[in-house]
Amino acid sequence: MLAIAILAAGKGTRMKSNLPKVLHPLAGKSLIDRVLSSTQGLSPSRRLIVVGHQANLVEDSLKNHQDLDFVLQRPQNGTGHAIQQLIPKLKGFKGELLVLNGDVPLLREETLSSLLKFHKGSNASVTFLSANLSSPTGYGRVFTDKSGLVKKIIEEKDCTNEQKKNKLINAGIYCFNWQQLLDVLNLLSNKNSQHEIYLTDTISLLKKALHFQVDNPFEIKGINDRFQLSECEHYIQEKLKSLWMRKGVSFVDPISCSLSEDSSFGTDVIVEPQTHFRGKCDIGNGCHLGPGSVITNSTLAENVLAIQSYINEAEIGTNTSIGPFAHIRPESNISKNSKIGNFVEIKKSFIGEGTKINHLSYVGDSDLGKNINIGAGTITANFDGKNKHRTIIDDHSKTGANSVLVAPIKIGAHVTIGAGSTVCKDIPDKSLVVERSKAIIRTKID
Ligand code: UD1
Ligand code: CA
Repeated sequence: MLAIAILAAGKGTRMKSNLPKVLHPLAGKSLIDRVLSSTQGLSPSRRLIVVGHQANLVEDSLKNHQDLDFVLQRPQNGTGHAIQQLIPKLKGFKGELLVLNGDVPLLREETLSSLLKFHKGSNASVTFLSANLSSPTGYGRVFTDKSGLVKKIIEEKDCTNEQKKNKLINAGIYCFNWQQLLDVLNLLSNKNSQHEIYLTDTISLLKKALHFQVDNPFEIKGINDRFQLSECEHYIQEKLKSLWMRKGVSFVDPISCSLSEDSSFGTDVIVEPQTHFRGKCDIGNGCHLGPGSVITNSTLAENVLAIQSYINEAEIGTNTSIGPFAHIRPESNISKNSKIGNFVEIKKSFIGEGTKINHLSYVGDSDLGKNINIGAGTITANFDGKNKHRTIIDDHSKTGANSVLVAPIKIGAHVTIGAGSTVCKDIPDKSLVVERSKAIIRTKID
């Protein structure tokens, strides 16, 4: 049997933040979410999260995970104290307890599997992940005897200058035999420089403590401050960009762009500077995106051009041109060969094939057919102060500059609307509508 506990009760003082440390995002996902993801495939019988500082915020952020059991640690007297809170919860439990620090976000599931395998094969009381770091500052140091058994872990703040030279560090990821841990858990004291109950002090009390060294020290990087957060972000971004470059995506200035792990790209995509992909984006072959575009949770078919534009929760068809300076908002579906030009905002609308909305328009809650031309400054007035209403425009219609279409309204096919018209009634197919007051022209007398 395997139980997993994730420590997420600490304040994260060194972050200097109002947000709990484990909720800080890395490439769009919180630290705690990342730690949880790394345990997904291990088939644990239980997953416990120790929360304390701003517990509600941390719990809320994880409410999509049904299986989690939250354990409150108040006050937060250290990592050992956090694990002591599990004792009533794990009454009668027999098996291994995998403990993860909520602030070690780059850990891979494969590494955890190897740790579990090694631990089971060696019959140890505890096995924890370690690494040999060229700059070990901030981590607990691992001291072993000649046979390789771990004798103790000393926190940096409790190390002598000599002990600080040891580069073998504790990653904060442990696999304990729960029964054996239980025997020593209440023997811990807080006689150390931080006056905390350290989980690391169990190591010297347990019969057989082993460490399992990881090859890639970045994987076990703990985040205590904003510098480490930005180093991890940089690491993830580098990895993602080199992956997609190898698969045929060009980044003109990679350092100025950011990607999410859930985004995918076809071949011959060109990403210009200052372009960002967030959430789940699917980008088709030959798209040319940026400079200065932000694309979030959207699907772009092939050869889409998007310059200086925001595209959020939208679907964009092949050979469509967006921007510069367009804003495509959620639930929009733009069909192929269409054009959304500068200073155009589209919201919750379907735009048919070949339709052009080239300049200065707002199209919201609308269904537009094929080959429509929306004149500059056309506005769909969708809101009556209380409710939103839909605008429907059928194929091949044209709106003149500065038309206002007051919804709910249906404009038929092949309709032409004169410039400056405010249209409040449905218009049948093949009509011309002009709504304009008569100009008064008089000769001026000086
Ligand atoms: C800890 C380890 C250190 C290791 C490092 C790896 C201890 C005493 N030290 O140090 O040996 O090298 O991680 O990153 O364990 N937490 C609680 N309750 C508390 C205190 C902390 O849940 O009362 C949680 C924090 O939210 C965090 C994790 O435990 O997710 C680690 O705490 P932190 O204070 O960052 O420990 P480190 O000083 O980094
Ligand atoms: Ca830490």
